[in-house]
Amino acid sequence: FKVNWDVSSAEKAGYEHFMIKEIFEEPKVIKDTINPRIKDGKISLDSINLTSEDLEKIEKIYIVACGTAYHAGVAGKYLIEKLARIPVEVDVASEFRYRDPIISDKNLVIIISQSGETLDTLFALREAKKKGARVLSIVNVVGSSIARESNDVLYTWAGPEIAVASTKAYNTQLSALYLIALDFAMKKGRIDEEFYKRIIEELRNIPKAIESILENKEIIQKFASEHYNAKSIFFIGRGFDYALSMEGSLKLKEISYIHSEAYAGGELKHGTIALIEEGTLVICPMTQDDLMEKMISNIREVKARGATVLAIAKESNKQAEKAADVVFTIPDVDSLVAPIVAVTPLQLFAYYMAVQKGCDVDKPRNLAKSVTVE
Ligand code: G6P
Repeated sequence: FKVNWDVSSAEKAGYEHFMIKEIFEEPKVIKDTINPRIKDGKISLDSINLTSEDLEKIEKIYIVACGTAYHAGVAGKYLIEKLARIPVEVDVASEFRYRDPIISDKNLVIIISQSGETLDTLFALREAKKKGARVLSIVNVVGSSIARESNDVLYTWAGPEIAVASTKAYNTQLSALYLIALDFAMKKGRIDEEFYKRIIEELRNIPKAIESILENKEIIQKFASEHYNAKSIFFIGRGFDYALSMEGSLKLKEISYIHSEAYAGGELKHGTIALIEEGTLVICPMTQDDLMEKMISNIREVKARGATVLAIAKESNKQAEKAADVVFTIPDVDSLVAPIVAVTPLQLFAYYMAVQKGCDVDKPRNLAKSVTVE
């Protein structure tokens, strides 16, 4: 009799790595984060004690975080400004804490952290509180230092994340930001009931959309098997897709060690385009309907210089098919909620590139899951 499994593979529940297991958990953890906060068709954030009057006093919101959580914050800025019309500034925690930020009790500081223990983020929180700001944190670990020291906490219910590269936590951080943005927008009277209800429905449908992406994972796997020798890969996007590009690029470099940069589409001609040559790989998330024409012209610009383009676009987007070399399609969700869905193909891309290269996917060199030192 021979036992041919060990504890680690049992924990991976049949998956080859924790990272892919965690990507496959996304539909469930998004549901866990969103659904209990929707009661009778309305968002109910019991753990956040901000009334309409409190919100009226807030002149500006700061979002502060590190790494992947910071990238969720960049998307959060677009979202809160768009819906609630409150100015938002996003900062990496190590910059925020040392730049003597201009904060008072007229500010709300939103801290995002999977672990709740990142040292720079924790100290940024303390700096904000010292200056009189109210601190709302989006945290995954119950009872963590950041959760304990915040005025309000909205937990992401992503469950334990083992792989160093964060995946499902990011999707749930975004989910939490949607709940907050919609709630603030409604309380401030910036959106109408019909829009509010429609976006809540869209949020409820996200898990299904991600399930269908996961069913098509082989398309990305195949693309990775053809391009894993790339020396350098660029990600370009506009609006929400710029935030996604940053995260896609970080994921790729973290685990595959391929040099990568993310650029706002409009910045291309201010530098990056000089690096595009025959065969350079460019990844373009393009989920924002109102920016489509602009992205198509960015794709034409890089293709004219020899780039190979992989676009991540909605099913109904026929323009993307014509412009890019390969299109990975995502279901036709509203552009507003598309970032939560469109990040999954980017995570899968990073994963399969790293697997192809034979990298230690779950424990990339030089990186730690939680950075509790400076
Ligand atoms: C480390 C991890 C990243 C994470 C970042 C912030 O760098 O490797 O995956 O995004 O810390 O961590 P936090 O726990 O604060 O979200």
